[in-house]
Amino acid sequence: MSNEILKLHYDIATGDYLKAGEASSNIKKALMQLGVDNKIIRRVCVASYEAEINIVIHSLGGYMDMNIYEDRIEIVAADVGPGISDVALAMTVGYSTATQGAREMGFGAGMGLPNIKNNCDELTVDSSAGGSTTITMKIYFK
Ligand SMILES: Nc1ncnc2c1ncn2[C@@H]1O[C@H](COP(=O)(O)OP(=O)(O)OP(=O)(O)O)[C@@H](O)[C@H]1O
Ligand SMILES: [Mg+2]
Repeated sequence: MSNEILKLHYDIATGDYLKAGEASSNIKKALMQLGVDNKIIRRVCVASYEAEINIVIHSLGGYMDMNIYEDRIEIVAADVGPGISDVALAMTVGYSTATQGAREMGFGAGMGLPNIKNNCDELTVDSSAGGSTTITMKIYFK
């Protein structure tokens, strides 16, 4: 099924800790207004928040799109670099290259990507060193 019900788009700036989390919080509001099941909302929130923060603290900037279809919610978090050289390693619990500054803000436990994986039915991380990163997350209504 591919009938699109709602599409939201948010630009995400690099290093903007003040606005970090805003896109995922807007996504949460929209899902609540639509009456989406709370369990689904929670999973979408965790996944979108972690992906959003990763763009803020690790990337040069990007965007997050959320699409609701009849059978699923799809979130695409994409940025313009610098990319991830070893995606399998980045997916490991506890692995982090977060800067001292990001750690002082409470980030850098190396839990974001593993959390995203745990909360999605389908996840693809498309990235390479020096390139862009595109994370596609799918959560089905079931
Ligand atoms: N969008 C991205 N661009 C470049 N590198 C990324 C991106 N997202 C994740 N990474 C790399 O993958 C690593 C693991 O990400 P993950 O979200 O699991 O942990 P973290 O962001 O370092 O810490 P936490 O999410 O627990 O605050 C990051 O430290 C970084 O090296
Ligand atoms: Mg993270």
